[in-house]
Amino acid sequence: MATNKTLLMLPGDGIGPEVFNQVRRVVDWMAKNRSINFDLKEGLVGGACYDVHKQAITDETMQDALDADAVLFGAVGGPQYDNVERHARPEAGLLRLRKEMDLFANLRPAVVFDALLDASTLKPEVIQGLDLMIVRELTSGVYFGEPRGMQDYNGVERCIDTQAYTKAEVERVAAVAFDLARKRNSRVHSVEKANVMETGIFWRKTVTELHASGGYQDIELAHMYADNCAMQLMKNPKQFDVIVTDNLFGDLLSDAAAMSTGSLGMLPSASLGAADENGQRKALYEPVHGSAPDIAGQDLANPSAMLLSFAMMLRYSFGLLKDADMVENAIQNVLKSGIRTGDIMAPGCTQVGTTGMGDAILAELD
Ligand code: NAI
Ligand code: MG
Repeated sequence: MATNKTLLMLPGDGIGPEVFNQVRRVVDWMAKNRSINFDLKEGLVGGACYDVHKQAITDETMQDALDADAVLFGAVGGPQYDNVERHARPEAGLLRLRKEMDLFANLRPAVVFDALLDASTLKPEVIQGLDLMIVRELTSGVYFGEPRGMQDYNGVERCIDTQAYTKAEVERVAAVAFDLARKRNSRVHSVEKANVMETGIFWRKTVTELHASGGYQDIELAHMYADNCAMQLMKNPKQFDVIVTDNLFGDLLSDAAAMSTGSLGMLPSASLGAADENGQRKALYEPVHGSAPDIAGQDLANPSAMLLSFAMMLRYSFGLLKDADMVENAIQNVLKSGIRTGDIMAPGCTQVGTTGMGDAILAELD
């Protein structure tokens, strides 16, 4: 496939550039062997941008992100930026991208690779073959609701946060979940606390109505309370296909689900915005981990989370399902062969660095 698709690459700080180098090798491999050619653009973000421009992202890079067909993001942050003013801190770059691209749906897969069954704290039989997706609402809910902050409440000191959702905000994230489920196993669990929260009742009603009238009757919809969902994720996670939930519950449940798979170095994510007239969504793909200053610059980082994020981009932004599978299978096979980075090292395996892991994945692709 010859593409004229623009891909903006934002490696960022710490291990970001290191794991990104392995993506570049796969991009080159795909151009050569699969005739997939992206228009590549690159920018500075986070501390890397601060070092040059004294801000976390420039207007020019922000515009490139808005114009790109997809953004691939490494990681930002580091102790050397701890005293930088809030608006210029590395994470401000990521927050601005999320806000201006209006990335309201955060996709967090939890996939267990057979070779890493022993890396989880859960029993192998509970997680073997696990493949679920949590869709977390990312731009609204209690993290953004007004009013918020300190109040004088009849002379008593009180602090509040507000959980607020509009119908449109619930509908658009639920639609992402239903659309995703259709490409997977056609099951959605909508998660809230309708037993104790008004927004929970509203969430459940809105999702139920969209399911009935939005053309989603082919998808099996179930509702679950968030506390029960937390328990079920530990007890029997394989019952889930797609989970859709609000910002706060999604924050907690996605971290819990992710850890059933073992290591931060294996976890990708996607954040999607509204679809244009061609159904193409604004999208940013990034590993779940941060810049890992403790291991940065030492060729120790596991590039898998970054490469799996790249695979998600191939699948969700460009419809290159076969190529996404190829990258994921290559990683799976390298792990099976016993080649590991330090974070997922196990007895009897061979330890390699970031580049060595990249070498093995490219050899597997060949
Ligand atoms: P972290 O994810 O950077 O590191 C946590 C631990 O996991 C460290 O021991 C690290 O060495 C290890 N680790 C992370 N990724 C790894 C990989 N690919 N391979 C092997 N080991 C890996 O989180 P931490 O330490 O809380 O934060 C460090 C910096 O990163 C901070 O400045 C923080 O603000 C930033 N951060 C940035 C994020 C982003 O860019 N989206 C997300 C989380 C944190
Ligand atoms: Mg979190």
